[in-house]
Amino acid sequence: MKAEEFRGHFPIFSDGGVHLCSCSEGALSDRVTSALTDFVTSWRIQAAPWDSWMEQVNQARTAFAQTIHADPADIATVSCASEAAFQVSWGQSFSATRNVIITTDLEFPSIAHVWLAQQSRGAIVKFVANHDGLIMVDDYTPFIDDKTALVSVPLVSYANGLRFPVREIAKLAHKMGARVAVDAYQGVGVIPVDINELECDYLFAGTLKYLLGAPGIAFLWVKPGLSHANDPILTGWFGRQDPFAFTPRILDYAESSRRYQTGTPSIPAAFAATAGLFLINATTTTQVSQHIERLAEFTQAALKRQGWTFFSPNPPFRGPQVTIHADDAERISQFLADRRIFVSPRGQAVRVSLHYYNNEQDIHKLVQALHDYRKRYP
Ligand SMILES: Cc1ncc(COP(=O)(O)O)c(C=O)c1O
Repeated sequence: MKAEEFRGHFPIFSDGGVHLCSCSEGALSDRVTSALTDFVTSWRIQAAPWDSWMEQVNQARTAFAQTIHADPADIATVSCASEAAFQVSWGQSFSATRNVIITTDLEFPSIAHVWLAQQSRGAIVKFVANHDGLIMVDDYTPFIDDKTALVSVPLVSYANGLRFPVREIAKLAHKMGARVAVDAYQGVGVIPVDINELECDYLFAGTLKYLLGAPGIAFLWVKPGLSHANDPILTGWFGRQDPFAFTPRILDYAESSRRYQTGTPSIPAAFAATAGLFLINATTTTQVSQHIERLAEFTQAALKRQGWTFFSPNPPFRGPQVTIHADDAERISQFLADRRIFVSPRGQAVRVSLHYYNNEQDIHKLVQALHDYRKRYP
C-alpha cells in the first residue's frame, strides 16, 4: 500500500490534525474504528459471542506473528509489556553464580522496574549508561560476563528513538551463556523485525503505538525449546493446556508459549489490534522504514535550520523519532497541541515521532508552529 493511501485511513489528517506522537499512541484509523464498532455490535446482538471473540484474539496473535516472522504458537497474549517482562524474569533463577540483569538507562522505566523488582529474588541489576543519547555494543561489552543471567535490549529507545544493535549484543550475551530480552514496543511496525535474525530469546511489545491498536493487549514471543527455572506463578485459565477444561485442581501449563497467559484478554483491544496489524501487514516494512528514514532526515534538517539540537542520534542509529532538547518541552507540546499538532514531551525533550502516515506537509506545519513558538517565547 502506498503512503498516501495509507494516510487516507487516518481521519485525523483530513480533520486538520497533525499526528506526530506515534511513540505515545498511534493514530486512530477507520479500520480500528469499525473494528471497535464490530465489537460493540457483536456484544449487543449476540450477547456473549465468546467463540468469535476468542477468534479475534487468535487473529491478533497470528497477525503479530506475521509482523515479526514468528510462529503464532510461540507467542503469548498478555495485557501489557510489563506483564511480559515479568513473565520473562520469573523464568530465570538468579542463582548465586548467575544473577545479573543488564539493562540500560534508555530502557522504558516500567520494564526497568520489573528488572529491579527481581532484586528481592537475588538479582543484581546493572545499567548501561548512554553518552549523548548513544549506546553502542562496546558499551554493553564490559557489563556482560559469566554472571550475567539476562540482558535486556530495547529495539528502539522510547526516550530518543535510538536503535540498539540488538543482534550484536545478543551474540555477545549468548557467548557468555546469558539470555536476551528485547522490548520491541518502540520499533515493531515501522522497523523490520525478523525474529529469526535478531537472535534474542524473548521479544515483547504492545500494540498501541506503531502497531496502531488500542491499549490493553501485548504479545510475548519466547524462543521455542527454551528451558526455564520456574513455571509461571502469574497464571490463569488461559495458560492451561485446555483453558475450557474447567478443572480447578489441575495446574497444567500449556506446552506452547500460551503458558505465559493469565486471564481473559482484553477483547476490545484484540479487535483493535487485529485491525491495526492488518493495516501494518498490508505494507512492507522496508517500504515503511525507508519512508520514515527519509522523513526523519527531512525533519531533522528543517529543525536544525531553526537552531534546535537533538537527543536523537544520527543515522544509522536513528529510529522513527526526531527528539529535540528543550527545557520547556511541556510548554512547547501544549503550544503545538493548541494548534492540533501532536508531539510527545518527555522530561527535557520533545519527541517528534514518524509513521508511514506522516508526510512533509506535517513537518512544514510543525516547523511553522515552532517558529511561532520561538517568537512568542523568545
Ligand atoms: C519501550 C516501551 N516499553 C514499554 C512501554 C509500556 O509498557 P506497558 O505496556 O507495560 O505499559 C512503553 C510505553 O509506553 C514503551 O515505550
